[in-house]
Amino acid sequence: MMGKVITIYNQKGGVGKTTLVVNLAHGLVRLGKSVTLVDLANPPYCHKWFGIPADGSALRWMKGEDVPRYGTRLGLYVLPGYWPDASDLFDGKELHLEAEDIRRERFETLQTEMVVVDGYRYEAIVEKELLRCSDLVLVPHTPGTPLESSQSVLKMCRELRKEGWTGQYYLFGIVETLGDVQKSLEISKNADGLMLVTWNERLRKRSTVFESPRVVRVIGEYHNLAMWVVKQGEVG
Ligand SMILES: Nc1ncnc2c1ncn2[C@@H]1O[C@H](COP(=O)(O)OP(=O)(O)O)[C@@H](O)[C@H]1O
Ligand SMILES: [Mg+2]
Repeated sequence: MMGKVITIYNQKGGVGKTTLVVNLAHGLVRLGKSVTLVDLANPPYCHKWFGIPADGSALRWMKGEDVPRYGTRLGLYVLPGYWPDASDLFDGKELHLEAEDIRRERFETLQTEMVVVDGYRYEAIVEKELLRCSDLVLVPHTPGTPLESSQSVLKMCRELRKEGWTGQYYLFGIVETLGDVQKSLEISKNADGLMLVTWNERLRKRSTVFESPRVVRVIGEYHNLAMWVVKQGEVG
């Protein structure tokens, strides 16, 4: 099965990647898709949402081990990330994700329609391979995110495209004010488009604010994001 790989990525922590990954993965399950969440974040956090251990399944899977997946009550499959325990550190047996571990074939082997990846903070060559394996890259950007960090991810995507990568990449602007919308529009000039999310009712009602050709969708609920992602998969 040729599953779609969706990677949520920004080099900055605390921008809402993990929250987006977990909600998007569940949204896709609710739409009837088979989905695996792969937590490659360093450090990982997705497991805390499900009360499962950070046993390193995701890294082991990428390295070629056919480890079992956790199944959540809603039917989502999860490969939790890696939090080295003291004995791993002491014995020098820590797992490291290397560029050669990031292979599209490992995502395909998961045999689900969608693979949602939480990716964060490795060496640039590892990060670049992860983006190269992805069909869709969403780059969360909040009002507090340093400009350079979002821009450097978009730059990496641009370079990949020059190298023949056929994936799509969007800025995922989390906005509260008109000023935030303007900033997101500006940054998204270097992306395929801008996905705007706001929980601000008053802002959401000002539809003219969002009438830019760069804005592909304005969402107030993750459900709508999941629907858009599925549609992307169909045309892509
Ligand atoms: N859309 C949002 N609105 C408000 N708070 C959010 C939103 N998304 C995430 N948060 C909060 O921001 C913090 C960081 O989110 P998280 O998803 O862990 O970011 P990251 O994975 O990029 O480090 C968490 O406390 C989370 O609850
Ligand atoms: Mg995170």
